[in-house]
Amino acid sequence: MAQGYFVTGTDTGIGKTWTTAALMQYFKNQGKRVIGMKPIASGCEQLDGQLRNADALLLQEHASVALPYQDINPYAFALPVSPHIAAEQAGVVINIASIVKTYQRLEKKADIVLVEGVGGWLVPINARQDVADLAQALNLPVIVVVGMRLGCINQAKLTFAAIKQNNVACKGWIAACVERDMLMLNENIQALQSATNIPLLAVFPNEDKLDVIKFSEKINKTL
Ligand SMILES: Nc1ncnc2c1ncn2[C@@H]1O[C@H](COP(=O)(O)OP(=O)(O)OP(=O)(O)O)[C@@H](O)[C@H]1O
Ligand SMILES: [Mg+2]
Repeated sequence: MAQGYFVTGTDTGIGKTWTTAALMQYFKNQGKRVIGMKPIASGCEQLDGQLRNADALLLQEHASVALPYQDINPYAFALPVSPHIAAEQAGVVINIASIVKTYQRLEKKADIVLVEGVGGWLVPINARQDVADLAQALNLPVIVVVGMRLGCINQAKLTFAAIKQNNVACKGWIAACVERDMLMLNENIQALQSATNIPLLAVFPNEDKLDVIKFSEKINKTL
């Protein structure tokens, strides 16, 4: 059985996908077979008559196992809105058990499976459940991506607290420097390190382009 990780973050658009791709590279550097999933994606485009999401395509591209798109992203929605609304508009109810089944099928094909969440930890995915329920059902340790920008200390502390309250194991956090020149970046990172016992796994610098090799070499804790 593969080791899995659930990648969540402080918000949408804060570096989860770049981090997931970098983590995939980190494990590939160890000679492991790696799969990345984005089970729920809102904000998809029609490609050859099929809904496709940029994150899922990136994870498909970086996997060391070739997989059909459907396995990586079983729930693809056109509208770039909260997934419970996007699903409702598409007439679909997101079913966690079905995602877990897909995960269990994929984990047989790899040593490592990285699952990117959608938005942040408490984003609703249907009328009753949110991303936290998905992570719990998958029973995976979580890696939190903190998008380094003004407000992130509050967002990160709330995210860590919610994960703890849900009794989900947190493997570590990664600082993603999504802003080119964040004021007092190091002070913000230090403040977060003082606020939590959760290990800082890496600081990903601000880059114009995703460089998975460079980022993978920044991971300074053994996973
Ligand atoms: N280290 C970085 N340096 C510079 N820009 C970054 C970095 N990480 C992410 N970005 C920028 O932020 C954008 C959003 O990153 P990413 O797609 O990884 O976020 P996300 O959290 O996965 O978003 P979503 O909620 O849509 O899944 C990227 O397209 C990129 O432009
Ligand atoms: Mg993403």
